[in-house]
Amino acid sequence: MKNGPQPPRDVPERRKVTTQGLRRMKERGERISALTAYDQLMAELIDQSGVDLILVGDSVAMTMQGQATTVGVTMEQMLYHCSIVTRGVERALVVGDMPFMSYQVNSDDALRNAGRLVKEAGVEAVKLEGGSVICATVRRIVDVGIPVMGHLGLTPQSIHKFGTYQVRATEPEEADELRRDARALEDAGAFAIVLEKVPAALGTEIARSVSVPVIGIGAGAGCDGQILVSHDMLGLYTRFHPRFVRRYAELGKEMRKAFGHFVGDVKSGEFPARDESY
Ligand code: KIV
Repeated sequence: MKNGPQPPRDVPERRKVTTQGLRRMKERGERISALTAYDQLMAELIDQSGVDLILVGDSVAMTMQGQATTVGVTMEQMLYHCSIVTRGVERALVVGDMPFMSYQVNSDDALRNAGRLVKEAGVEAVKLEGGSVICATVRRIVDVGIPVMGHLGLTPQSIHKFGTYQVRATEPEEADELRRDARALEDAGAFAIVLEKVPAALGTEIARSVSVPVIGIGAGAGCDGQILVSHDMLGLYTRFHPRFVRRYAELGKEMRKAFGHFVGDVKSGEFPARDESY
């Protein structure tokens, strides 16, 4: 028997989430929950919610750096964000996004950069955008022991190629390409696939057609799991509000109110009070 404090009986055991665990969840029809985080505090709060997967997304460029797209975030910045997120997480699987041009030039670069995210920043898997074109790279990364998550549908790193963030794969040719890409990623050894902003029926079909978990974001309820950008669902990032973002809180409004309250109290002399002074 283990010495030291034991968890209370009614608290379920919080087992570490692994890529194999996610696969078993899909097999038994248990939906996977996933959120993004970019810093230690947020990661810790999210992990305590019981979420299964935390993605250190390159969306950090938009949500925290004020950039218009995800394209500009660098490898060094992703290493920094991944390393502070992993410090806050005990249970969820932590996946680090590979930033634009850290894996597209050649697979040697890709392997080196994936390795840095695991070795220097402590993530347990990496995510790459794209289908068949990157499958040889995916295979090489998986072969050295680094789990890879794919990302299909709307791939924000290609925004300048597509020109808009509109729903993808509405035409039969693009839907067929998506089906092929999902199978190719599975064959290349990806442990899961993020599927972004595609018609719900196609999301369901893709999830059923592959054995690995398909985690949707704007891809309908038939996916094996759902991911949202935390800053979107908390009402912190409000520059645009796609239909697939459910706002679970309005923290931006709350924060503005609190900051305004503080400013008013300072100006009026209400703060600090006697019991807030020494
Ligand atoms: O960077 C990110 O936050 C993502 C999610 C949209 C899945 O890739």
